[in-house]
Amino acid sequence: MTINVLTLFPEMFGALRCSVIGKAIEKGIVSLNVVNIRDYSHDKHLKCDDYPYGGGVGMVMTPQPIFDAVRAVDPEHLCRRIYLSPKGERLTVAKARALSSQENLLFWCGHYEGVDQRAIDLCADEELSIGDYVLTGGELAAMVSIDALLRFVPGVLGSEFSAEDESFSAPSLEYPQYTRPRVFEGLEVPEVLVSGHHENVEKWRRAQSEKLTRKLRPDLLKRENTETEEKA
Ligand code: ADE
Repeated sequence: MTINVLTLFPEMFGALRCSVIGKAIEKGIVSLNVVNIRDYSHDKHLKCDDYPYGGGVGMVMTPQPIFDAVRAVDPEHLCRRIYLSPKGERLTVAKARALSSQENLLFWCGHYEGVDQRAIDLCADEELSIGDYVLTGGELAAMVSIDALLRFVPGVLGSEFSAEDESFSAPSLEYPQYTRPRVFEGLEVPEVLVSGHHENVEKWRRAQSEKLTRKLRPDLLKRENTETEEKA
């Protein structure tokens, strides 16, 4: 899988070269190509923003460097081109899983007060949001999306783990986990987990998941019921 990222702040994406995603890149499961939009500016000072037509506060990213960068990275439009924006479709576990099956992705990030609408019209197959709040740029949203989708790519989590086991893949939250020591600051690991009785451990975990979901995220259960009804 190839993931291209177009941004004015390529250094931010160093964060993806750490830990699990960093290992996936090292192993060649995913190729991460981070491109500086500024390199494509035709302006003699490499400017990529300007004042908004009609007035208003802040600067707007100009369409030319974005358009040229997208065309240079994806000349044949083989990539699904995604613009990170609070106006976009919400990133969910289903969306992350769907994106993980694409062979070529291109995320591009706006910054400042916005992006010239023509860049979006010409360079985005879709807009994607990570939540109902406004970030100072699309970079963190791109990183969140890339991390979430790569967990569904075989080999990224290692053979013993599966994204399917964890919170939000099923419509329930993950059960509490414990490791050594058996007593920490007076708090004990639940007895069932040290019993060696696998069936009881499984039962306990399922019950904990259900209880937590009912208490903390009852909307997930409702959503699942609605989706099941819709499918039926
Ligand atoms: N850019 C700014 N805010 C954003 C958000 N919530 N999601 C995606 N991209 C963004």
